[in-house]
Amino acid sequence: MTVHFIGAGPGAADLITVRGRDLIAACPVCLYAGSLVPEALLAHCPPGARIVNTAPLSLDQIIAEIETAHAAGQDVARLHSGDLSVWSAMGEQLRRLRALGIPYDVTPGVPSFAAAAALLGAELTLPGVAQSVVLTRTSGRASPMPAGETLENFARTGAVLAIHLSIHVLDRVLAELTPHYGPDCPVAVVWRASWPDQRVVRATLGTLAASLGPELERTALILVGHSLGAEEFDESRLYAGDYDRRYRPVGTAPRFPEE
Ligand SMILES: C[S@@+](CC[C@H](N)C(=O)[O-])C[C@H]1O[C@@H](n2cnc3c(N)ncnc32)[C@H](O)[C@@H]1O
Repeated sequence: MTVHFIGAGPGAADLITVRGRDLIAACPVCLYAGSLVPEALLAHCPPGARIVNTAPLSLDQIIAEIETAHAAGQDVARLHSGDLSVWSAMGEQLRRLRALGIPYDVTPGVPSFAAAAALLGAELTLPGVAQSVVLTRTSGRASPMPAGETLENFARTGAVLAIHLSIHVLDRVLAELTPHYGPDCPVAVVWRASWPDQRVVRATLGTLAASLGPELERTALILVGHSLGAEEFDESRLYAGDYDRRYRPVGTAPRFPEE
């Protein structure tokens, strides 16, 4: 018996990996994490599967579900939105399972920042403009930020920021970032990327507040950085005609001669 933690992707039911879909189909028990996991994915569960929405459950109750399946020798598909490596609450479940000696594995999923970037048609790491993306958030009621992980500190690097779980404090985010990136820096807010009701607002740090309506649907990402929408950037050297590389030796004395 194994608990399969599966990244369910950002919302569209076909943005799950083939491995994740096949695991759901093979497990007689499916635990899924509430409204951010598309219900359409549950159609892959086998007939008669026990399907439980864990949104109203405590960690103890979730582990009790897993222990029951373990005692019955039934594999569990455990679905969380996006990818499991960020803000999935997987870590605490894995720690409990290790203590209980219950086997598990992890299948990655498409994270929401990648779905948002896809919707924007944006490469976030443009040569000469930005080469780092910081996945971050602001403090929440249940999750204070560790000292040092402030927007201001990340902003000082000039990296692209993908700010999660923070649309409700957008004014504060804009106020903290504008002195570092400047009011002309592009920003995009992406709501529910890949869901049927996805929405995008593009603006600058200086104009965003005026571009938004009053609605503050919680599932949104704030992307900030000079690579968003930039047309002035270098082409990558890797594909330059004169760049000598292992797979495309160039010149009379290539660095990686063919063997
Ligand atoms: C609990 S975190 C889950 C993150 C998830 N594990 C991931 O890989 O993106 C929820 C936050 O992720 C962001 N998010 C999740 N799905 C999203 C989507 N489809 N579009 C935009 N933002 C999304 C929002 O910032 C939301 O508040």
